Amino acid sequence: MAEKIIRAVRGTRDLLPPETELWNHVESTARRIFTRYNFGEIRTPIFEDTQLFARGVGEETDIVSKEMYTWEDRSRAQSEKAQSLTLRPENTAGVVRAYIEHQLGESGLLQKLYYIGPQFRRERPQKGRYRQFFQIGAEVMGPQSAGSESPLRDAEMLEMLTSLLDELAITGWTLNINSVGSASDRPLYVEALRKALQPVIGRMCVDCQRRAETNPLRVLDCKVPEDQPVIETLPRIADSLDDASKAHFAAVCAALDICGVPYQRNHRLVRGLDYYTRTTFEFTHGGLGAQNALLGGGRYDGLSEMLGGPKAPGIGFAIGADRLVLTLQAQQAEQASLPPDLADAYLAPMGVVLDAPALSLARELRRAGLRIDLGDGSFRLKKSFETGNKLARQIILFGEDEQQSGIFTVKNFANGEQTKVAREHLVTALKSIEK
Ligand code: HAM
Repeated sequence: MAEKIIRAVRGTRDLLPPETELWNHVESTARRIFTRYNFGEIRTPIFEDTQLFARGVGEETDIVSKEMYTWEDRSRAQSEKAQSLTLRPENTAGVVRAYIEHQLGESGLLQKLYYIGPQFRRERPQKGRYRQFFQIGAEVMGPQSAGSESPLRDAEMLEMLTSLLDELAITGWTLNINSVGSASDRPLYVEALRKALQPVIGRMCVDCQRRAETNPLRVLDCKVPEDQPVIETLPRIADSLDDASKAHFAAVCAALDICGVPYQRNHRLVRGLDYYTRTTFEFTHGGLGAQNALLGGGRYDGLSEMLGGPKAPGIGFAIGADRLVLTLQAQQAEQASLPPDLADAYLAPMGVVLDAPALSLARELRRAGLRIDLGDGSFRLKKSFETGNKLARQIILFGEDEQQSGIFTVKNFANGEQTKVAREHLVTALKSIEK
């Protein structure tokens, strides 16, 4: 009886060539831009103590309350209690933990860190929403004396993001920004919101009724059409900001105006994680459908203290790399199809005895920087040509004669031209072909 096929787990997927080329392009472009803004890379573990997310992201958030992959780790000594561990649902809490653990603030300088890696959330999978997804993110944090609270940092980060999207030639995005207030003025707003919700909550959806109890800010995020008129009557967070928060937000907007970065103020943008203070932002893209947030982020001036660390205001973002790639693919499909990505040459041994010598020649050519696909001596000439034509721009025939004479036949698939090339000139000849 045939064994049952084992498939990738729901919400996870394999990324295959040629799509992975696009992923590498996105990641290397991001690295290049981050380096230009003087960021360095941080790699934190993929799993952490569950408490990190409970305290950092917030017990009442959707992420922590229902989407985390958590397990009890029993590998410790029997006498010790099992430790609750969680696959990271996001990376900001991990970066701040590392900042505290390695006392990065001691340098007195801003820490500018970026990361690229998988995150895990048990969400309902759909286009652009997966259970294992990839983020490209960055955080800027440090002691106040390093200027970590300055609105300049917010504006610089948003400007960097627009440069990254431009460099990737992504068009049609919208930048939404808001201020959710500081640790001192936000509770006042939440109280005002609670009060305003009391008389109307009975008319709202069940999710909102739950949120009104646990996390009233999230009511502003509700997408249920019937709730929208009610939400419009609720107090706005902008009206509860204290003078310092108002001035901070105005300075961010003014710097964006001077740089010519276009944005929309969206007073309902509260974001789904509890650590945010002051500036919050999201870049959306119309082509993404329901999951239209390309990236999101904001300030978290109190997160370090929430995790037992020193005061270390900060701001960061995370791009949903899966969604960035989806957007690029959609744009490419609209443009003329790209030429296939081919090897420089297909090296075809004309007999099994020539397999090993061909491997040796392939090694020589690859070490000279050429992209070579190696055939198989058991193939007939016709099969070698057919395979070579699918994989490479030219084919090198390697038969007994070639081995003895050191003169190779090279055929260019594009124009059908066939030339004889001496072994010592092969690298130059193969490189000279137009891509
Ligand atoms: P987030 O809004 O939860 O923020 O996620 C950031 C981005 O990750 C989203 O805008 C989206 O593009 C992508 N994303 C989230 N969930 C999924 C999913 N299930 N499938 C595919 N893509 C997804 C954060 O994670 C914060 N740590 C961002 C941040 C950094 N704030 C400050 N610093």
